[in-house]
Amino acid sequence: MTTTHSHHSKFNWHNLTRPFSVLAPMDDVTDTAFRRLVLLCGAPDVMVSEFVHVDKLLAGHHEDTRNRLLFHPEEHPLIAQVWGNSPDHTCAAVKTLIDLGYDGIDLNMGCPVSRAIDKGCCSALINNPTLARELFLAARESASDRVPVSIKTRLGFDRLITESWTQFLLTLNPAALTVHGRLATDMYRGAANWDEIGKVVALRNGMRSRTLIIGNGDVQSFSEIQERHDRYGVDGVMAGRAVLKNPFLFARDGRTMESLSPAHRIQLLWHHAELCRQSLGETLGFTVLKKYFKFYVIHFKGAAGLRASLHRAKSIEEAYLYLQPYLQEGPNAALPLHSGTPLNSDSPVY
Ligand SMILES: Cc1cc2nc3c(=O)[nH]c(=O)nc-3n(C[C@H](O)[C@H](O)[C@H](O)COP(=O)(O)O)c2cc1C
Repeated sequence: MTTTHSHHSKFNWHNLTRPFSVLAPMDDVTDTAFRRLVLLCGAPDVMVSEFVHVDKLLAGHHEDTRNRLLFHPEEHPLIAQVWGNSPDHTCAAVKTLIDLGYDGIDLNMGCPVSRAIDKGCCSALINNPTLARELFLAARESASDRVPVSIKTRLGFDRLITESWTQFLLTLNPAALTVHGRLATDMYRGAANWDEIGKVVALRNGMRSRTLIIGNGDVQSFSEIQERHDRYGVDGVMAGRAVLKNPFLFARDGRTMESLSPAHRIQLLWHHAELCRQSLGETLGFTVLKKYFKFYVIHFKGAAGLRASLHRAKSIEEAYLYLQPYLQEGPNAALPLHSGTPLNSDSPVY
């Protein structure tokens, strides 16, 4: 593992062709292995890390935090998402993340889980604009003009305050504002309210703000990215959960995991296993991989039995023994994937 500073050109949200697509940050899901798998299936314009706590990042010795920060050079542009409640720590963490080679910083003001809001972090900031502002200004000052700073939030905490809350955020001039069309107290229940997201776009236009608006919530397919842009005026569209079921979501040809033959799905799983092994090693790599079996090994005869065997397996090697019979022509044959670096290329950077 090396500390590598990247030599890519400076990232600017405004240079993206609209509507642009963004892979949503998902805790315990969108790690470097998953993101590289998505790149192989059909690349979004931008990807975002899992959220990283600024205090833990600065403490430096948490293995989990270190793993969250791993990435491979092919993942650019890659945004680091942070959370916390200390402006000073945010400031220091932003410097570290830029030095690691991240292309932008996103502040989490939307996560509804209690371990975050109990400490006044994430969606609790919707009820604490003063701290929200301090955190944003600390991050932006720290980033200076090296990378853009964006914000991701929801429509309110326990009641819709879309316009007052996002107007407040827009006065801070973030480079981009992602709006997930739910309240924090909704968690993930109900349908995302895209009409409210449309109101944020109208507000932004009325304020003549340069902040780009990214809509988020329940997007299921590539064609919906254009559709949400046309209908609600958002500059970009972020998708998360649907990408788990269909890592081809960002592929322009509308391919889906369901359209793959069982052999191809198993090849993709094999590939994902190799990516996990590369980034996290044999043991942790296999533990992480297990969460994804259900997305690949589904909808074909014998899938349930194979899943059970895979979950019983003690190692990636043992899992391969169960997968091997499903592969018609070996693990690297004929899987219709997009570009991506070969598996044996250099390991991720930290
Ligand atoms: C398992 C999981 C983990 C998530 N972790 C994060 C996170 O770390 N940071 C964040 O801003 N949002 C997080 N989210 C919210 C997503 O980024 C996104 O806003 C939400 O899932 C709605 O989009 P979707 O319907 O396309 O999934 C998470 C969502 C899920 C399901």
